[in-house]
Amino acid sequence: MPTSSTTRFEILPSNQPTADSIRDNILANPGFGKHFSDHMVNIRWTVDADWHGHQVRPYGPLTLDPAASVLHYGQEIFEGIKAYRHADGSVWTFRPEKNAERFRRSARRLALPELSDEDFIGSIKALLAQDTTWVPTPSSDADECSLYLRPFMIASEAFLGVRPAHEVDYYVIASPAASYFKGGISPVSIWLSSHYKRAAPGGTGFAKCGGNYAASLAAQKEAEAHGCGQVAFLDAEESKWVEELGGMNLFFVFKDGRLVTPRLTDTILEGVTRNSVLTLAKDEGLTPEERPISIDEWREGAASGEITEVFACGTAAVITPVGELVTENERIRLNGDGGNDVAMRIRKKLLDVQYGRSEDKHGWLTRLV
Ligand code: COI
Repeated sequence: MPTSSTTRFEILPSNQPTADSIRDNILANPGFGKHFSDHMVNIRWTVDADWHGHQVRPYGPLTLDPAASVLHYGQEIFEGIKAYRHADGSVWTFRPEKNAERFRRSARRLALPELSDEDFIGSIKALLAQDTTWVPTPSSDADECSLYLRPFMIASEAFLGVRPAHEVDYYVIASPAASYFKGGISPVSIWLSSHYKRAAPGGTGFAKCGGNYAASLAAQKEAEAHGCGQVAFLDAEESKWVEELGGMNLFFVFKDGRLVTPRLTDTILEGVTRNSVLTLAKDEGLTPEERPISIDEWREGAASGEITEVFACGTAAVITPVGELVTENERIRLNGDGGNDVAMRIRKKLLDVQYGRSEDKHGWLTRLV
């Protein structure tokens, strides 16, 4: 008899779950990425046996051979997706099939095995069935608290030759989260990386792999040294075209109602939030445009008032206004007070769908619990 996506998971409950009072304290002020729920998912893959050994087991350190190839050659991919608690207590996630599809795309680029939608979504459902109490309850419509889920896949074979691993592990961990930025949704300053590049044509830029994020950290250090919270990267060939931030996509609001975001290439990550913003923008009467946008257009549009707002978006960051772009010798601020009205309107629309406060007319939600 076929097993359903969740019943194929063996459940090994934690015998030391977090006390209710400790969990309640964490949920009251979770920060981002600092606390973890009581369980995690593991599915193993071997070249001979395919995917097997589906488990939900207590959260805890991994036992990894020091020769595991992920530690040497970085064969790793991950996803970011959230679980939202609705007012009636039910728990939902947002467009998980998009994350599952991207996870497979990333796997192909990193020569890792592909995981089915059924296992990807089933693993999230199985984890949430154990750790439902870790999903925070929003205190207001502006509260973006959620349970942030981090599915990831690593090459766990102990082997130092350079080739795709024959043994791989998939995990999902869960972390209660508030706003990604410490300052909440106040406008963030962005550092323009002039030296470092995030991705090159033919490389891994479109894949969600740890290496892309590792490569962004030296630029992130520069950003922090200049008082900025994030880095913007330009294309590697001409240093002219705006690509994305270290972990977020960018949008530009024009005063004539156009909403422009860099066109997808193999150097840009296809964000699920990016894709949703393009749809919500149309519902808002804006005209979305996916096309190359140069740093000169940003500079000139900001100065002339053509560009009225810039915002960043991602699963973790939701939608965050960009206050200014800082370079070695200039600060590009928006000339005129856009007030971030468009960013805040789209943000509200998105959160209202995710938290079940408005109709899910695009069929984006999947019930977890
Ligand atoms: C996400 O938005 O989920 C990401 O993976 C980005 C990361 C910088 C937290």
